[in-house]
Amino acid sequence: MSQQLEQVKALIQLREKARLGGGQKRIDSQHSKGKFTARERIAMLLDEGSFEEFDMFVTHRCTNFGMEKDTFLGDGVVTGYGTIDGRLVYVFAQDFTVFGGSLSESFAMKICKIMDQAMKMGAPVIGLNDSGGARIQEGVNALAGYAEIFQRNILASGVIPQISAIFGPCAGGAVYSPALTDFNIMTKGTSYMFLTGPKVVKTVTGEDVTQEQLGGASVHASKSGVAHFAVNSEEEGIHIIRDLLSFLPQNNLEEAPVFQTEDPIDRLDDSLNEIIPDSPNKPYDMYEVIGAIVDDGKFLEVHKDYATNIIVGFARFNGSSVGIVANQPKVLAGVLDNNASRKAARFVRFCDAFNIPLVTLVDVPGFLPGTQQEYGGIILHGAKLLYAYGEATVPKVTVTLRKSYGGAYCVMSSKHLRGDINYAWPSAEIAVMGPSGAIEVLYGKEMASAENPAEFATQKEKEYRDAFANPYNAARYGYIDDVIEPRNTRFRIIRSLQQLTTKKLTNPAKKHDNLPL
Ligand code: HXC
Repeated sequence: MSQQLEQVKALIQLREKARLGGGQKRIDSQHSKGKFTARERIAMLLDEGSFEEFDMFVTHRCTNFGMEKDTFLGDGVVTGYGTIDGRLVYVFAQDFTVFGGSLSESFAMKICKIMDQAMKMGAPVIGLNDSGGARIQEGVNALAGYAEIFQRNILASGVIPQISAIFGPCAGGAVYSPALTDFNIMTKGTSYMFLTGPKVVKTVTGEDVTQEQLGGASVHASKSGVAHFAVNSEEEGIHIIRDLLSFLPQNNLEEAPVFQTEDPIDRLDDSLNEIIPDSPNKPYDMYEVIGAIVDDGKFLEVHKDYATNIIVGFARFNGSSVGIVANQPKVLAGVLDNNASRKAARFVRFCDAFNIPLVTLVDVPGFLPGTQQEYGGIILHGAKLLYAYGEATVPKVTVTLRKSYGGAYCVMSSKHLRGDINYAWPSAEIAVMGPSGAIEVLYGKEMASAENPAEFATQKEKEYRDAFANPYNAARYGYIDDVIEPRNTRFRIIRSLQQLTTKKLTNPAKKHDNLPL
């Protein structure tokens, strides 16, 4: 065998060794926990045969605790690039079979390399996390590695989409990289995220709590809002990443891809003409409205289980991506509270950063009153949503279906926050507050001294309703561009979006804004 052939053979052997990560025993152990390996995950994520790996021969440089005798090719993270539906993406997958996927200086530098490359190419970064955190033996070098990644997450924010999947542990400061990215996907039962684990919690607060209760997928998807998607399996998580990317552009200077659709743009949906109940206090399901108007009824909901009084997610109109924000009258009457405001604000800002038009469906009785909300900072959180809509320069189409009261009227993509097209259904009620509250304020004293207070209130409420509980008062001032037939909503939205494709609007130059945090 020639010397060159021997060298090639040695290379192939080295590659095989690297592909085994921490070895077959640890791979088997990973499988026995119902988890895939880093390489299997990448293979599922990317188009077949498209993966090009970087830094397969990198090893750590640590000499503490005899670590120099313990090295693995690749050092616990698989990095590189490939395609999803033919579009370039960069990816890293932490390999739990090598030192529990813990992060060393070399490991961090591998991730930084693909992040830098992604920024130069203007392509998304996808991180598949499964790690015991900072590699303890590396001390401050591991911490430095995390901070290098954080810095890149920050600079990439709003420039390229960043998506994180948590397919195993993610603890300590390590959680901050996924938290800085745009979307987090967690698998139920096999992933968890927390700053300090159950043992430390017990020592510090005395609380007895399991990993799942403290930082499992369901907790983060419904209580903290850290997870945008909680999935039943890694395959489902991978599917969501691919689906999500189909709605997004490659970077902030591009538009999202446009898909062919068979769904007619002028499809009427008669059910919408009768969806609003006669009683203003009776709910209906906003999902039915969304399903009736978007292409093929397809809606990728974000934060499905968090602050369910507001709905956010991606859909398409005539093949083009939009971000939908909609109050949900079925939950807490669609009121805006702290969590709903934060959830929607973050989504609106994401869409605006990535040139995705916003379609807002309004049915909101106002902001939720009470000490719990006030102490929790409703003034600041509500302001976040107000700010997000007001700074957004993407096309903004708003349809008011029923209630739009008080501050919530201003906030929900109103004309005054540079809403481009604001429509209302004939059932819309746009006013400072609902009739009973208004009557109480305006006629409280007269009501108390009235011969028949109930009759007096009914009469005054009727007068108030006739004057304000309709869209025409707002339309008279041009705050509503048109009152539309509900069944024609899809067509009117599509026409609006078509008209707005050449929209150009910029905000004043500044170093950065001072969003109320
Ligand atoms: C070095 C680690 C490691 C770590 C796990 N391993 N975590 N090695 N540094 N942080 C190694 C283990 O020694 C073991 O090696 C192998 O990975 C698998 O770990 P096991 O414990 O056997 O696995 P399992 O029982 O599944 O438990 C997983 C785990 C546990 C829950 C993640 O390993 C664990 O608690 N690790 C420490 C977590 C932690 O506290 N990390 C620091 C967080 S603070 P062998 O050779 O036996 O297979 C942090 C700061 C970041 O990350 C700050 C950023 C600013």
